[in-house]
Amino acid sequence: MKLGVNVDHIATLRQARRGKYPDPVEGAILAELAGCDSIVCHLREDRRHIQERDVYLLRKTVKTKFNLEMALHEDIIKIALDVKPDQVTIVPERREELTTEGGLDVVRFSEIIKEYMKKFQGNGIKVSLFIEPDFSQIEESKRVGADFIELHTGRYADAKNEDEMYKELNKIIKATEYAISIGLRVNAGHGLDYKNVGNICKIKGIEELNIGYSIICRSVYVGIYQAVKEMKEIIDKNERKDN
Ligand code: PXP
Repeated sequence: MKLGVNVDHIATLRQARRGKYPDPVEGAILAELAGCDSIVCHLREDRRHIQERDVYLLRKTVKTKFNLEMALHEDIIKIALDVKPDQVTIVPERREELTTEGGLDVVRFSEIIKEYMKKFQGNGIKVSLFIEPDFSQIEESKRVGADFIELHTGRYADAKNEDEMYKELNKIIKATEYAISIGLRVNAGHGLDYKNVGNICKIKGIEELNIGYSIICRSVYVGIYQAVKEMKEIIDKNERKDN
């Protein structure tokens, strides 16, 4: 199981002073040296953390895979088609949210998603759709031609008690099985940390976990190289070996 490191919150810290450091581009280099498998960032419409400069530089410096998270806003689409990351992950975006709150409603927005999917794929960019572990969203993701889905693990991560946690975990397991059975490739992420990641690693078929906040928070204490290495080790230790 691969690890994608989201570097948005390095930029959050930089933007606190609108300064030059810490630089998410430098952070991404160290994360790659520590063994991560891809670099993720989210260019939001309000530019609250990642800036255009970061996206263009990351395209030049990332040596693993560059995965740009984005909403389907005209100006961001233009930038994405210019930058040509290896992959885009389409997410819903609301200005007032602290972070991406829910999955994309592929059923409701299928026509527009399909239209842009073709544009991205025509430019050699793989497309992943960030969705809830919901069968109708999975079916529609397949119908519109997504290469990957990324299952939203936020409800699992935020569960208030064990019962709720296992209920959410079960939804992710069933969603993964179903998505794979209809020919989709599956990633997962959101809210994963050093404690709750273990259960997700045991799910057969998930290819990659995208993790940001917990790794960047830990890196304040131990440095990003060590924080990424520790997460990688936990994933390797917990992963089902018959995957
Ligand atoms: N995957 C997606 C699609 C996201 O939007 C985010 C948050 O930017 C993440 C993964 C990473 O979430 P977290 O920062 O909670 O680890």
